[in-house]
Amino acid sequence: MGKIMRKKRILITGGCGFIGSRVVQNLLATPHEVFVMDDLSSGHRSAIPEMLVDLKVCDIRSDAAQEYIKEIAPHFVIHLAAQIDVQVSLEQQQLDADINIMGTLNVMEACKELADFERFVFASSAAVYGNSTELPLMEDAAPMPISPYGMSKWMGEQYLELNNEMVDFPYCVLRFANVYGQKETGAKDVISDFWDKMIHEKSPIIHGDGEQTRDFVYVADIAEALILALNVRKNGIYNISTGEQTSINDVLSVMSDLLQVTVVPENRRNRIGDVRDSRLSNAKFQEVTGWRPQYTLAKGLEQMHLEKQEMVLVK
Ligand SMILES: NC(=O)c1ccc[n+]([C@@H]2O[C@H](COP(=O)([O-])OP(=O)(O)OC[C@H]3O[C@@H](n4cnc5c(N)ncnc54)[C@H](O)[C@@H]3O)[C@@H](O)[C@H]2O)c1
Repeated sequence: MGKIMRKKRILITGGCGFIGSRVVQNLLATPHEVFVMDDLSSGHRSAIPEMLVDLKVCDIRSDAAQEYIKEIAPHFVIHLAAQIDVQVSLEQQQLDADINIMGTLNVMEACKELADFERFVFASSAAVYGNSTELPLMEDAAPMPISPYGMSKWMGEQYLELNNEMVDFPYCVLRFANVYGQKETGAKDVISDFWDKMIHEKSPIIHGDGEQTRDFVYVADIAEALILALNVRKNGIYNISTGEQTSINDVLSVMSDLLQVTVVPENRRNRIGDVRDSRLSNAKFQEVTGWRPQYTLAKGLEQMHLEKQEMVLVK
């Protein structure tokens, strides 16, 4: 958990979403005051304990968002609210840019006016690397996005860096690999998609031959990294990943063993905007914070299984 000892005000945009709600849960175990801004477009109110958190329902692009930030004057912002779906970004490029670039700017501009502002933590993505092929991907590799989503995330980073140069705006960018875990909301990732198909004994769809690889990082490790990032004193960009590369076919086989289901996948054409291989070095963040991923893919999937079973019991 974070090392900030004195009580601070922390705003989590997108705090009702998949990653954000985990961050909120973790922060509630600290002395800090937790604020959430979310338009509930994919997140749910019930994802956070509203009794303990101040929730502002609004769009990050709105005047209301600016006013709220000025009113609560957070010391830290963890900016997670975004359009996160690569396919949506291909179909609606303006919408994607509007939320991910203009929305980020709107939140950042409000923070710039706060006298006691300490750091802006921005959730970026491996999609920024795009066709950059030298693995493992290091933070100084040239960005080559191949989707509007990767482009809009990169632009968000660029505005933060520029404002740091211009007015010393304090920021920390975390580029996440492929995040997975039990989720009730948001865009389907490959693991939750496979999961839903497999438990209904349907064929999962694999785009391409299934030998493409990804670096899968468990959501609890991401939440932990976001909180540690509040203490990172050096402005800059950090990858958050396991540093392991797993093919989509291997994911399917680990899941088949875990769920005791055998299904034959349906192979379809490759999708535009998908990279062939991905693996990110996490050495830079490890060195600065001591963070280590606690979950291998097998362990993360087991944990996800447990959480899904608990959900069924609660319902
Ligand atoms: N999940 C991943 O694999 C992954 C990988 C890399 C980066 N990221 C980044 O992490 C962040 C969180 O992703 P997630 O997986 O939790 O997604 P999510 O969709 O579950 O959460 C996003 C939250 O933001 C809210 N939101 C969306 N647009 C908004 C707007 N205009 N104004 C206010 N709120 C808005 C949604 O209601 C939702 O609660 C995003 O910035 C995403 O780009 C995620």
